[in-house]
Amino acid sequence: GRKMTVPEVCSMKEKGEKIVCLTAYDYCLARILDESGIDILLVGDSLGSVVQGHDSTLPVTVDDVIYHTKAVVRGRRRALVVSDMPFMTFQLGVDEAKRNAGRLVQEGGAESVKLEGGVTQAATIEGLVKMGVPVMGHVGLTPQSVHQFGGYRIQGRGEADARAILDDAMAVEQAGAFAVVLEGMPVQLAREITQRVSIPTIGIGAGMHCDGQILVVHDMLGLFDDFTPKFVKRYANLKETIGGAVRSYMEEVRTEAFPAEEHTFH
Ligand code: KIV
Ligand code: NA
Repeated sequence: GRKMTVPEVCSMKEKGEKIVCLTAYDYCLARILDESGIDILLVGDSLGSVVQGHDSTLPVTVDDVIYHTKAVVRGRRRALVVSDMPFMTFQLGVDEAKRNAGRLVQEGGAESVKLEGGVTQAATIEGLVKMGVPVMGHVGLTPQSVHQFGGYRIQGRGEADARAILDDAMAVEQAGAFAVVLEGMPVQLAREITQRVSIPTIGIGAGMHCDGQILVVHDMLGLFDDFTPKFVKRYANLKETIGGAVRSYMEEVRTEAFPAEEHTFH
């Protein structure tokens, strides 16, 4: 199919076509997702949890995201690649954010970057867009603020909190972002934001009315089960599948059923 680009993603909202996104962190899985027709591959800082085994995204560095972005870019032909800006790579000022976004694009091969925050990050988003780097915003339950929230809690439940998240989404649009992730918020709020902004909204734990959806690929494939949030749907149980394959292999090695004649050189 046609190469996904930033303008192409934006036009999908106008046409009412859902934008289907997943995270990816390596060549092999990126290739499977891309060949399946996924529109956007996000090299998320969720790699801190599902690849590195940390219990938050806070330890992830820009070098980590560059490393994984390079691998994902080699595996994709069609999908748009978005790379996350980790904690401490954009909060210290617009120049620092430009330097790090520039590295994700120049060294990693990312086509766009994503950063968490709304009103407070508007100037940074504007700076990146002006240097030619498309930006995806991310508002609501922003995991880099886990300590501020006191845990991974749904945001925007009260009227004032909902208003603040709507303001964040509108600030992100105003600053020039091409899309915005809505994470962990009531369905009614995500619907209102989706109606009020002209850029596509990509939901995760934000209900059905968003212009697109994203999940962490390890969650939806059933590879990662340290914890499973309510908004995750498992489309496969690869942890069980892999465990079964490994047990078969062990059994066959121990009983000398493997390697067989066809795996053997003479
Ligand atoms: O890091 C990540 O995977 C994300 C998505 C879940 C939106 O930010
Ligand atoms: Na992220």
